[in-house]
Amino acid sequence: MKILGIESSCDETAASVVEDGKRILSSVVATQIELHQPYGGVVPELASRKHIEKIVPVVDQALIDAGVSRRDIDGVAVTRGPGLVGALLVGFSFAKAFAYGLGIPWIGVDHLEGHLNSVFLSESAPEFPFAALLVSGGHTNLYYVRSHTDAVFMGQTRDDAAGEAFDKVAKMLDLGYPGGVVISRLASQGDPARIQFPRPYLDKEAFDFSFSGVKTAVKRYIETHPDYTDHVADIVAGFQEAVVDVLTFKLIHAAEVKQCRNIAVVGGVAANGRLRQRLGEAATERGIRFHVPDIELCGDNAAMIAATGYYYLVDPNGPRGAFDDDVYSRAIIQPPS
Ligand code: KG4
Ligand code: ZN
Repeated sequence: MKILGIESSCDETAASVVEDGKRILSSVVATQIELHQPYGGVVPELASRKHIEKIVPVVDQALIDAGVSRRDIDGVAVTRGPGLVGALLVGFSFAKAFAYGLGIPWIGVDHLEGHLNSVFLSESAPEFPFAALLVSGGHTNLYYVRSHTDAVFMGQTRDDAAGEAFDKVAKMLDLGYPGGVVISRLASQGDPARIQFPRPYLDKEAFDFSFSGVKTAVKRYIETHPDYTDHVADIVAGFQEAVVDVLTFKLIHAAEVKQCRNIAVVGGVAANGRLRQRLGEAATERGIRFHVPDIELCGDNAAMIAATGYYYLVDPNGPRGAFDDDVYSRAIIQPPS
């Protein structure tokens, strides 16, 4: 079963053809990073306009790369939310039109569920149930994942998302946007122990996070150390270590409380080398299996959307997209159970 996936929730226009939820035949991602760079963040109106320009060529390219024609596609999966409404509507409307034009089924997929399923596109897939940490520019969420379509929400950040903290600290230090990649590169040259930034565990038993305090601590350090430009690598290494400590602790704790033998980290920040390393080590020490998507599937992409759509569309009694379906901007959070 070949599913065309489409993603346009933020600043990436992406399309992908995935077979049976597993085999990526193509994955095209047109990023708008350069467009938004001068503003230090995503400008929603500019994002929507760029998606409109890109959606047709990106989908065409995904079909060409996969070596398939429109008639070979069995169904369409498209991101329905959360994200920027104007941006989401471009992919969503396109997907509806594409599916109705061909007379094939389609389904609107939750972007966060897409990230959770991205881990099944890599070599070693986790066994259910597993504990998952979703860390991106907009979210820092913990889940107890029972199936491809059933993730129980366990906790989230109270303020900044982990990726947002990376982006804001990079901005403070004039390192450019988006900050995660720059910081992780620079941090590898720094001493993570030179400056001790706070570890916001909050209640160690709880599954919520807070990263605005670490960000403020970096700001205060910069303000009180006029010579800070001499040791920017040490500052970002110290910052990264504080964030990674907390993320690692909470994911392992979630796995232990839920008695999971498998853990996964997904989302843009899952590309962070130090986080991947520390989670891998922490898992090995406890006999837990650690899973993470390939780097190119950590950030926003349409392969994860196609894979998620597959798990709904493969079920003859599963839900289907309806003509009146609309996008949504905010995450649908289930109550902790
Ligand atoms: O999942 P994603 O591509 O988009 C959202 O849905 O938010 O995540 C983007 C976020 C940005 O905040 C970016 O700075 C962060 O992921 N990021 C990283 C790294 N690569 C991207 N953060 C830390 N280390 C990285 N290597
Ligand atoms: Zn994302």
